[in-house]
Amino acid sequence: MTSLFDLKGQVALVTGAASGLGLAIADALAQHGAQVVLADIDAAKCEGAAQELQARGLQASALPFDVSDQAQCEAAVDQVLARFGRLDTLVSNAGIEGPVGPMRTGSARDWNRVLGINLLAAVWLTSRAIPAMAKAGGGSVILVASIAALRGTKALGPYGVSKAGLVQLARSLAVEWGPDRVRVNAICPGLVKTPFAEQLIADAKFMEKRMAATPLRRPGLPEEIAGVAVMLAGRAGGFLTGQALVVDGGTVISDGS
Ligand SMILES: NC(=O)c1ccc[n+]([C@@H]2O[C@H](COP(=O)([O-])OP(=O)(O)OC[C@H]3O[C@@H](n4cnc5c(N)ncnc54)[C@H](O)[C@@H]3O)[C@@H](O)[C@H]2O)c1
Repeated sequence: MTSLFDLKGQVALVTGAASGLGLAIADALAQHGAQVVLADIDAAKCEGAAQELQARGLQASALPFDVSDQAQCEAAVDQVLARFGRLDTLVSNAGIEGPVGPMRTGSARDWNRVLGINLLAAVWLTSRAIPAMAKAGGGSVILVASIAALRGTKALGPYGVSKAGLVQLARSLAVEWGPDRVRVNAICPGLVKTPFAEQLIADAKFMEKRMAATPLRRPGLPEEIAGVAVMLAGRAGGFLTGQALVVDGGTVISDGS
């Protein structure tokens, strides 16, 4: 019997893969045997990341594109299918923070940008990828959301709305495509050490409060999110669909004591 986490023979597309969680997820999927396509808007970093994985003997290639553009999302999925003949795992991970401050202060441009990159990209990518997965016998879609999808905030309102949208997208797509053996789940990370979270981690006042409310008393590591993605991509996650998996050191379940 093959390992529950064996991804040999799989093809995976990971967005936002030049940095942070996307890079860690791409790396972990490749380490478990997948052929990984790294996508990012930063072409140079994306190529560099793919080359680094290749240098370690992993199967990786770069496919730079902007996830906020529907046509580019569709073309990227088509390119993966044309080149590798299959797509088993899609990780929609690229994301931005969006405007900081009260909800009403975000401009229309801010809202369009944060919803375009964080939420609509997942709609365009899944719309193209899932029918192909279904036709080939199944697949796994992983949407990287956030614990900001689950709690109200004064600081990052539009970001939270975009991430809550992803959690609901996972539920609805899971219902729509479950009979075709396509599983769709969201991961909701808490604070994880990546360039995205650097500013927060450097803020001593914020960290004191957040860590007091986090039973594990530390931020997460990118590989601790990547491990969950490997599970969702593999046989280990075979009966999981429509879920929002909270990976946050306990922040959301704690009463702060
Ligand atoms: N780090 C955290 O604490 C944390 C917590 C919860 C959720 N998340 C989510 O995890 C995901 C990854 O975050 P991260 O911490 O690795 O951030 P990061 O900033 O290190 O990486 C994000 C990557 O996405 C890419 N990207 C941005 N806009 C893009 C676009 N339009 N098209 C293609 N690529 C684009 C960036 O170039 C970058 O490489 C995001 O969706 C973020 O919201 C992060």
